[in-house]
Amino acid sequence: MKARVHPLRRPLRGERVRVPGDKSISHRALLFSALAEGESRIAGLAPGGDVRSTARCLAQLGVPLLRGDGTPWSAAAPEGLGPPSRPAGSAPLPEPDPDMGPDDAIVHGVGMRGLRAPAADLDCGNSGTTLRLLCGILAGAGVPATLVGDASLSRRPMERVAAPLRELGARVRTGASGRPPVVVEPGAAIRAGAIASEVASAQVKSAVLLAGLFAEGETTFTEPARSRDHTERLLRQMGVKVATRGTTVAVRGPARLSPVALEVPGDLSSAAFLLAAALIAPEGSSLAMRHVGLNPTRAGFLDALTQIGARIQLDLKREAQPLPGGEPVGDLSASAQRLRGADLDGDLVLRAIDEVPILAVLGAVARGTTVIRGAAELRVKESDRLAQMARGLRAMGAQVEELPDGLRIEGGRPLHGAEIDSAHDHRIALAFTVAALAADSPTLISGAEWADVSFPGFFDLLRSLGAEVELVA
Ligand code: S3P
Repeated sequence: MKARVHPLRRPLRGERVRVPGDKSISHRALLFSALAEGESRIAGLAPGGDVRSTARCLAQLGVPLLRGDGTPWSAAAPEGLGPPSRPAGSAPLPEPDPDMGPDDAIVHGVGMRGLRAPAADLDCGNSGTTLRLLCGILAGAGVPATLVGDASLSRRPMERVAAPLRELGARVRTGASGRPPVVVEPGAAIRAGAIASEVASAQVKSAVLLAGLFAEGETTFTEPARSRDHTERLLRQMGVKVATRGTTVAVRGPARLSPVALEVPGDLSSAAFLLAAALIAPEGSSLAMRHVGLNPTRAGFLDALTQIGARIQLDLKREAQPLPGGEPVGDLSASAQRLRGADLDGDLVLRAIDEVPILAVLGAVARGTTVIRGAAELRVKESDRLAQMARGLRAMGAQVEELPDGLRIEGGRPLHGAEIDSAHDHRIALAFTVAALAADSPTLISGAEWADVSFPGFFDLLRSLGAEVELVA
């Protein structure tokens, strides 16, 4: 599918906009509930393909899970896939609840020892979080399985999770050059241990901590800087003792998880595209969003906005106690304004790692030079996001230099319409849609359907706010 995005001719306006549920929290809510003892209820799951992959894999592992759209995994199975086969003798699915919305789920947790070996490969689709976190759980539980993914996921590095899991005694193999398929072999008992990681990664950290929940004693994970802490927050909420000392996190096993009732906050990574659109839109634009997750280990984008001179309104909801999933939430609003270039680096970039593509777009529109450093991890995301952003922004007339770990952008030049390919990457499709709003002629984005991985309905929502977008086959 292609999206033809026209320059914005009138202000963008929206009030009380709800963005999709947070993807990182949604994966964790499903996975951890599956390991809990008893029934969990989750409202407002991320509706995109990635979290459907997690739900589908859990169904294949025999977890009784019902999504509000009526099936164990999703009404719309990922393309080319039939229903997941549930292992023989799996417990019956939960009864549907008439009050459930399409993005709500009921999970009958099977406990730490209740997962069953799947009859077929676990297809994690486009989702690195699904593959890496499941790998930690299966290695810990000693459940043999083969984890595979689509073309993009099949190019991503998996030794970063396999190697530490082997250090803890698991038997985990990766394919050629450390890529998927990842095979968790039977017959190895997990031991508690101390893991030091060279990369700051919440996915690696989570895989290790989840495996550690099955071991006897304390497992620690130390990373060079503190990555997002959704795993720690939700595990605590589910009754697990999690200690944090600097950039080290410790859990003690064997653990038991209590079920949760949780409302997933909106995804700041999705809200970022709308905030950016409002900032660069014609004067008079304003956009307000409700119930967005504002976890400080994830909210580097908001700090980056301050650095580029953008003022946004943030209303932190202090009355919500306990915080849903242990996560702070709030309302955000932004209006059109002038932006200036800035140097973005270090901890801020780690806390805004998924927002670098849209920050690059803002850098191209801002006056002055924007330099983004410390973002080498972007080269191993769903695509090489540094290369894709440099290529696409140049095609639109921006002056961009690709650095080994970032981008240097001379901002303020007029952007022109261009042909852009999403490179099978949702954040590339979304970022260039926003860039196209600020161009002086229409932009054609091919592979626009990839936006659905994290933000189904994005183009319709933009249209409802005043943008002109046509979808063509
Ligand atoms: C995520 C962690 C980050 C992030 C990804 C989601 C998570 O990846 O980029 O979109 O949910 O744990 P890394 O752990 O590879 O940095």
